[in-house]
Amino acid sequence: MAGGIGSRFWPMSTQKFPKQFHDILGTGRTMIQQTFDRISQMIPPDNIYVITNQEYTDLTHQQLPEIPTENIVGEPAMKNTSACNLYMANKIANKNPKANIIVMPADHLILKEKTFLEKVQLAFDLASEKDYLITLGITPTRPDTGYGYIQFIPKKEESFSKVKTFTEKPSLEIAKSFIDSGDFLWNAGIFIWSAKSILSAFKKYLPEMTNQFNSCDYNCSAEKECINLIYPTVSKISIDNGILEKADNVYVIPANLGWSDLGTWTSVYTNAEKNDDNNALNSKNVLTYNSKGNVIRIKSQNKAAVIDGLKNYIVVDTEKALLICPRDNDQLIKDYVLDLKNLK
Ligand code: GDD
Ligand code: MG
Repeated sequence: MAGGIGSRFWPMSTQKFPKQFHDILGTGRTMIQQTFDRISQMIPPDNIYVITNQEYTDLTHQQLPEIPTENIVGEPAMKNTSACNLYMANKIANKNPKANIIVMPADHLILKEKTFLEKVQLAFDLASEKDYLITLGITPTRPDTGYGYIQFIPKKEESFSKVKTFTEKPSLEIAKSFIDSGDFLWNAGIFIWSAKSILSAFKKYLPEMTNQFNSCDYNCSAEKECINLIYPTVSKISIDNGILEKADNVYVIPANLGWSDLGTWTSVYTNAEKNDDNNALNSKNVLTYNSKGNVIRIKSQNKAAVIDGLKNYIVVDTEKALLICPRDNDQLIKDYVLDLKNLK
């Protein structure tokens, strides 16, 4: 899934060039390329699909030339993650009704790749045998309101558990109570299921959307035309709200993956390499004095910058914009982007 616009990463991430197509951590590979590198160790490129907005299919093709062009699927509108999952499940089931599917966001960091691949294999084994909707669960470290929370039924000898409740993006108060109670995990947003299981969950919980997608023929060249026709009318709902909160066959595999969804500049700061003064810099041409805890991204590697006396800030400089804001305000960047739009 690579259709988000990552507005909390403005000005690096823009609607024309969103975050998944950037090398946010400065590793030499963009987020979507890192996601491809991770899963192509297990799945051949011919079986890897990218679903993104029509605006980004060329960009995806440039960054991932290994993936066949017909596997890079463009959506005519942003409809959140239920529609894109239902579309892909139909497309894949049409090719192979017995297929198992892993759904991955294009913009996550996973440091422990070996563990990740082991857990995914376990999930595929389970999904091939049972009608399970499987998610990977992360031990939470703070009452973050940006995640889904999974309450599970602990079983000592098993490496997976049945999900008791799934709560997408709770209020801070509820998130705090979940953390205090101890038996909750974060939903990593990585799902494993058979095409058959997810299609029957859609039929049960989002029947109208199911009918809309069933009206297209995934065998013929009119597919795109049909998709363009139905997309404006399908409802905008996440798969977390649309399916996972409602289904009674959700299972979780707890996994210690060194995972981060890199949703904010602070999470980039936490995960990026830092200099002796704890500043995360992306260029050798930046000098820092009396400055600590900053994340500094200068797009042009030829541009020199000097930072003096700055603590715990985000500084991002591109050709078109400059952002300087306290790290604590990183959730507000979305709002700055909206305010800037109103200026025009
Ligand atoms: N193709 C497509 N179309 N992709 C989309 C769309 C869309 O309309 N909307 C979002 N995506 C992609 C994003 O690019 C991202 O890779 C992924 O789907 C998840 O969407 P987010 O918008 O980033 O979701 P979230 O972070 O708020 O919440 C999800 O992830 C959390 C973990 O990072 C949920 O699954 C939470 O429960 C979970 O904790
Ligand atoms: Mg996300």
